[in-house]
Amino acid sequence: MYTLVNRGEDSSVYKYITQLLVKGSAWSGKWKLGPKDYARFNLMFGERQTRVLDYTRIGHISSLRQAVNYYRGSERLLCKKVPLVKFVRSLTGHSDVKFSWLPVSYIVLPKRLKSKSETKSGYYTDEREEFLAFANKLEEKIWIAKSSSGSKGKNIYISHDVQTILEFIDEQSQGFVVQKYIENPLLLDGNRKFDIRSWVLLDHQYTIHVFSEGVLRTSSEPYDASDLQNITSHLTNHCIQEQFSADFGRYEDGNELFFDEFARYLKEKHQVSFASDILPQINTIVKKCLLGLKEELTTEGLGYDSFQLFGFDFMVDAKFHVWLLEVNGAPACANALLPALAEDLVRKAIDPIFPDHKSEEPRRSYQTQSITTESRKGVFMII
Ligand SMILES: Nc1ncnc2c1ncn2[C@@H]1O[C@H](COP(=O)(O)OP(=O)(O)O)[C@@H](O)[C@H]1O
Ligand SMILES: [Mg+2]
Repeated sequence: MYTLVNRGEDSSVYKYITQLLVKGSAWSGKWKLGPKDYARFNLMFGERQTRVLDYTRIGHISSLRQAVNYYRGSERLLCKKVPLVKFVRSLTGHSDVKFSWLPVSYIVLPKRLKSKSETKSGYYTDEREEFLAFANKLEEKIWIAKSSSGSKGKNIYISHDVQTILEFIDEQSQGFVVQKYIENPLLLDGNRKFDIRSWVLLDHQYTIHVFSEGVLRTSSEPYDASDLQNITSHLTNHCIQEQFSADFGRYEDGNELFFDEFARYLKEKHQVSFASDILPQINTIVKKCLLGLKEELTTEGLGYDSFQLFGFDFMVDAKFHVWLLEVNGAPACANALLPALAEDLVRKAIDPIFPDHKSEEPRRSYQTQSITTESRKGVFMII
């Protein structure tokens, strides 16, 4: 029997997977749940804050196969907004700011942080001057400022006016990315903006799997580029919509539209194929990001295995071009997808590390009481 410890109890995905492994009939007798601080675990679900995860405690017991649900360094290198910009630039081989799949972005530090972080490690270099020079060359462009470790639409400022953006950042206490606002997003019926969440699994052999189902998080207000104050028309985060839109749920349950419904919309309204026009762009971006970090993230030579579930967020513009917005290293999962995603994650990421002699037996699904929405199917596909 293997021992699992769950130190990431605020993750709904790993909470569900813990239940699945410990109580689900398909894996019965294979896993037991140990106390959080138990050192001789086989599998650890780590804290959501990966920097709290103590990797030095893993992989030192030679007789024990150990694995953790994070790749060390993923947060520092990819899953925050400033490092993402630095990393994507490094892929282009120079410090060019014009990417083809990440909106033009500059790193801007609040003035009071600037000198400190410059002397510290040189990790963040302020690009305020470059931003100003570039922005001033353009006529009337909209910029969006996002804090490096922000999430859920918090700490975001959208404006035409570069000075007020800089003033906003100067009042903050962390690094920001100032990014070209995608002014011409593809819109849904009702002229509504959306973003796309794709779940990506990186297994212990560094094989990349993309979940076949994904979600569009939609706005329930019409998009209006002339009114930047109305955040519900510009920020499609679930919590922003749920909290601030009077029309939340009017168009889609929970402002969520699934890939098959989106594919139908694209075909009928725009004669565009999701499978051949949109998905390949998503897969290419995912591959560039994860393969580009392979040397830094690899666990080769370490005494433990890693796997990780990522949430990649995208936008599509009116020309059907896909843009990467951010990569989340500890994503939540839409309720309707959770049962299928969790089961397939166990099959593709956990079972291969921990062989199961009973794996030939047919596996039955595990249902929890908490999932009330109708479940949708989906599997992780290797890309
Ligand atoms: N460059 C952009 N152009 C247009 N809209 C954007 C852009 N970046 C972000 N957004 C909008 O803001 C929302 C939040 O941005 P995101 O980068 O995902 O930060 P957060 O971590 O707060 O979710 C996105 O879901 C999208 O609706
Ligand atoms: Mg987001």
